[in-house]
Amino acid sequence: MPEDLDELTAEALAAVAQCGGEKALEALRVRYLGRKGLLTARLKNLGALPADQRPAAGQRINLAKSRLLAAIDDRRQSLERESLDAQLREESLDVSLPGRRRPGGGLHPVTLTLERITRIFTTAGYEVAEGPEIEDEYHNFEALNIPANHPARAMHDTFYIAPGTVLRTHTSPVQVHVMERGEPPFRMICPGRVYRCDSDLTHTPMFHQVEGLLVDREVSMADMKGTIVGFLRAFFEEQVEVRFRPSYFPFTEPSAEVDMSCVACGGPAQAKAKACRVCGQTGWLEVMGSGMVHPRVLEMSGVDPSQFNGFAFGLGVERLAMLRYQVGDLRLFFDNDARFLSQFN
Ligand code: PHE
Repeated sequence: MPEDLDELTAEALAAVAQCGGEKALEALRVRYLGRKGLLTARLKNLGALPADQRPAAGQRINLAKSRLLAAIDDRRQSLERESLDAQLREESLDVSLPGRRRPGGGLHPVTLTLERITRIFTTAGYEVAEGPEIEDEYHNFEALNIPANHPARAMHDTFYIAPGTVLRTHTSPVQVHVMERGEPPFRMICPGRVYRCDSDLTHTPMFHQVEGLLVDREVSMADMKGTIVGFLRAFFEEQVEVRFRPSYFPFTEPSAEVDMSCVACGGPAQAKAKACRVCGQTGWLEVMGSGMVHPRVLEMSGVDPSQFNGFAFGLGVERLAMLRYQVGDLRLFFDNDARFLSQFN
């Protein structure tokens, strides 16, 4: 440490000028000007000088102190300015940049399909009805002409949740509720969830159906055919071919399975050549069950079968969604994978 006050001051000023941070600067202040600082010590030692030299020496030390203090203040201010500038540079905000958008959500493809089906039928004058998903055996089976021990019960893979209480295996019980509640004519669809104890590549324990029911005087199978063909062509926005294949349901007579020309390959004429996997090269897709409401069903629900008749159909919503959106795997609808779902936004 220099003995000479000027040298000590010069050393201190040089250190301040080179000091690169606010902490180090504070350390320098303490080192020279603190209570035990080097310059402070000089003042304390004044007493050792002869009395006549004290005022001048004291003045010099105080002058050095105030120069150093001023230099420290200057340095501190410029350090603060530098760090503020750096911070501003880092945090600079370009207010002209476009805002960050939140990705919008979208409706589930099954919901989109349900809405589409509902729109087509409500436009044609059908009402939308609902029924319970927890159903009694009477509505799910008996009232649909499926008595206990009827072999058709075995086909339904029913979830029993209590004796006599099931998760509905189809939307057909809503036909019964609607007829019990009101007076004919009826023209309704019922979209909803149904449950079957079945799970593999093409079956999930829960899926969606839309039931249709029309009851009036002198309804013919031609009315049913026209309605179903019209619906399928509206739904797929294509002149699909439709064929009605004799089938059996206990609650309709006669009954028909409805096939539609394959939307993937274009139908039977092209299916083989295109090795179509969607229709298994048959050119036909099975899309719904249908039939004329069985007189027993009308009767049990309080509708006079000598005055009224009608048709009913039931279709699988996931199946139509797969065909319309070209989805190859049913399970995608229930995985809730955003990469799949966001494609429908
Ligand atoms: N409920 C039948 C099923 O789930 C479909 C159907 C409905 C058939 C109405 C005919 C009439 O398979």
